Amino acid sequence: MKILVLHGPNLNMLGVREPGVYGRDTLSSIDTRLRALADTEGVEIRCVQSNHEGVLIDEIHAAREWANGILINPGAYTHTSIALRDAITAVGLPAVEVHLSNIHARESFRHHSYLAPVAVGQICGFGSASYMLGLRALIDHIHARES
Ligand code: DQA
Repeated sequence: MKILVLHGPNLNMLGVREPGVYGRDTLSSIDTRLRALADTEGVEIRCVQSNHEGVLIDEIHAAREWANGILINPGAYTHTSIALRDAITAVGLPAVEVHLSNIHARESFRHHSYLAPVAVGQICGFGSASYMLGLRALIDHIHARES
């Protein structure tokens, strides 16, 4: 099983960016923990961060050729990007949306996700653990679909 892990804009700043909201874990420490979890599950992951919507879309398109699913924290594109949503529906891969913060408990402009309706599900509010929970959920979902 192979999974694309996508981190959207400003997530390269984790660790220094609003630690009261996003915690002190860096993106590379999150990727390291995701890789450890993936290893124990016998899953291969490719982690990509980009601040550019088009790069994220290109990665989703390319994943069609090699991945079984997508774990994505779209950052602020969650609340703005119909293009990212369309990319996910275009490739037809199962996607799990994750957020460090509880977007529903924050400013009202963060309450709406363009991606959530086309994702398998959304996990938010658990800090970096949202990613681990999301990866587990996606792996289980893919296994269930294949059995
Ligand atoms: C975020 C929540 C978004 O609203 C915000 O724009 C981010 C991070 C999160 O992980 O909590 O960049 O996706």
